[in-house]
Amino acid sequence: MTGKKRIGILTGGGDCPGLNAAIRATAKTAIQTGYEVIGIRNAWEGFFNEETEVLDSAKTSGIIDRGGTILGTSRISPLRVENGTQLVFDGFEKLGLEALVVLGGEGTLSVATKLFEMGLPVVGIPKTIDNDVMETDYTIGFQTAVQIATDALDRLRSTAASHHRVMLLEVMGRHTGWIATYSGMANGADAILIPEIPLSEERMEQLCQMLERRNRKNRSFSIVVVAEGTKLERESGSCDPAAASNGRECRRERIGEAVGEIIERKTGLETRVSSLDYIQRGGTPVAYDRNLAIEFGVKATRLVKEEKYGEMTALKGNSIIAIPLEKVANRIKEVNMKVYKVAELFFG
Ligand code: F6P
Repeated sequence: MTGKKRIGILTGGGDCPGLNAAIRATAKTAIQTGYEVIGIRNAWEGFFNEETEVLDSAKTSGIIDRGGTILGTSRISPLRVENGTQLVFDGFEKLGLEALVVLGGEGTLSVATKLFEMGLPVVGIPKTIDNDVMETDYTIGFQTAVQIATDALDRLRSTAASHHRVMLLEVMGRHTGWIATYSGMANGADAILIPEIPLSEERMEQLCQMLERRNRKNRSFSIVVVAEGTKLERESGSCDPAAASNGRECRRERIGEAVGEIIERKTGLETRVSSLDYIQRGGTPVAYDRNLAIEFGVKATRLVKEEKYGEMTALKGNSIIAIPLEKVANRIKEVNMKVYKVAELFFG
């Protein structure tokens, strides 16, 4: 022990590009402020298994452009593990921490909120490619996923045009359609299907009629983006894609395949389906996400220094602000329909 005040950092839930830029910014500003920084490995499990490491300046250099998280992550919640909460508090005490910075999505931040309410001094940083965390315009990782999906749609556009095909791309987003909406709009997609708008049989019929109209114009082609959480209204037995991660408790329904099959069957148009899956969550973050991560990391360290716990860094317009974690816990931010309606102007 160096006698310095210590803060902990952990990354929880699905990984995303930009996490390491946030770890770097938080650690370096904390070190500049006189703290020693302890990385908790593999999210909350690091407390269960006492897996921690000192994050000095060297360890957090050269990682700004690296995808994933140098700390590792996991989806295991201390609230669902026997004695898990006590293990976190005991570990926090044993490490001699002043505060804990938690980088997470809605799930991890909800756990952090509960632990804060039980007395753990926590500051949150919102990250997830899904962009479904309340009270912040964007989360770390979202813009990179949008760029990856847009690049993929641009590539699909050229081969669709050559073969006069309907090309579908399934993207992630869990229960929301943010990635689908922003990448589809950027690509000029002919249709964007999202969980926020139930895919009724009538809506499916309208989609097929639009695709047939487009095809009649000199054998044109079409691009359709489908968010993974989109539900066919008559679909049954589907499961939560994210839940599939706990030992794959249920097979993820491939909504893209289901929609593609209906389109080909109803219209007779050659239809092909691609899915980005984990590609949209990997690799180097775009500059936007790096800079958002840096600003969130600096803000988080300031909140720790001011002992403003129970808060989460957030982006509102051009401002980096702090939001009470309780406003974020157990809620998800659905797609802004004003944005979706702008994209819709260019459908078909
Ligand atoms: O929350 C991020 C996310 O990538 C979702 O878009 C996706 O549904 C889920 O994680 C997949 O979970 P896992 O990585 O545990 O399979």
